[in-house]
Amino acid sequence: MEKLGIAITGSGSAIPETAVDNQALTQLVETSDEWIATRTGIRQRRLAMATESLSTLAATASSQAIAAAGIQATDLDLILLATSTPDDLFGTACRIQAELGATKAVAFDLTAACSGFVFGLVTAAQYIRTGVYQNVLLIGADILSRWVDWTDRRTCVLFGDGAGAVVLQANDRDRLLGFALRSDGTQNHYLNLAYTASSQDLIPDVNVAKGNYQPITMNGKEVYRFAAQKVPEIIDKVLFQANLSVDQIDWLLLHQANQRILDAVAQRLNIPEHKVISNLANYGNTSAASIPLALDEAVRQGKIKPNDIIATSGFGAGLTWGAAIFQWGK
Ligand code: ACO
Repeated sequence: MEKLGIAITGSGSAIPETAVDNQALTQLVETSDEWIATRTGIRQRRLAMATESLSTLAATASSQAIAAAGIQATDLDLILLATSTPDDLFGTACRIQAELGATKAVAFDLTAACSGFVFGLVTAAQYIRTGVYQNVLLIGADILSRWVDWTDRRTCVLFGDGAGAVVLQANDRDRLLGFALRSDGTQNHYLNLAYTASSQDLIPDVNVAKGNYQPITMNGKEVYRFAAQKVPEIIDKVLFQANLSVDQIDWLLLHQANQRILDAVAQRLNIPEHKVISNLANYGNTSAASIPLALDEAVRQGKIKPNDIIATSGFGAGLTWGAAIFQWGK
């Protein structure tokens, strides 16, 4: 009989070697360790050097996830790369497919900023539930340091680089207990990595745009307000859908944007601090990588155990937000 349930059976992660602490950023902008730590909880971040690439970080995280799931790269049917910072705008998932030797897998990128991992999780789940694919590799990876304005203290202190990956497999028991995804493009202007261009005349009456992507711009207050309101709301909705009460959640695994957002969401949901996974002090906001990176760390530390119930939520540019509740392991 076909297995139409989903299990997340392995995780992996990779971070650049170079760590930059808050104090080091005072060489770039007028800021302080005290300001950054109290407003965000971030103490340091890892930054990819010019010689590093997204595909290499992603492939390292992926190899770990594949090994942890106990499968081979050649077993993969699909590779989804959630990223906003591909090595190539035509897509980077295929490069990862080649690096892994996942010859059977179809591979493509998916862009939903900091919600990318949760959106990818739900996308992967649809292919498994319909019986189309059995083994899916989902990667969340970003090198936002390449798109930060390093003279803008309101944003440059927040972000870091990294990659995380999970393997999802068809399973008898369905471990994805519920999900919801949302988008609101009317608030798009609060967080952007926008293409801006000037027009270039080609021939009479024909002009095309020629430009480049510009560094990240953000209205921090509005993004904070949005996250603190929408994230608890959507988790509540998914809990209801899954017929679970909040105290049945073992772990709250939020996009690691800001400790104050984590605290506010946990408080609104009445989830005690010891159930809230947080590693942003070490990595900052790694965008699509933050959830699988924190998940992998918690699994390897033995915090998250098979059958634990995890409520996860991603939120960010778009604006986009989403939540999923799943049980760890087969
Ligand atoms: N160091 C020192 N001072 C700073 C810094 C800094 N790094 N950044 C801003 N300030 C100053 C501002 O200039 C301002 O000074 P002023 O009053 O003289 O103008 C003052 O600090 C207060 O600035 P605010 O922007 O009002 O600070 P706020 O308390 O809102 O904190 C923060 C800013 C941390 C960005 C907060 O708004 C926040 O967490 N927002 C959510 C943003 C977020 O998490 N984004 C990412 C999520 S989406 C995604 O992941 C892509």
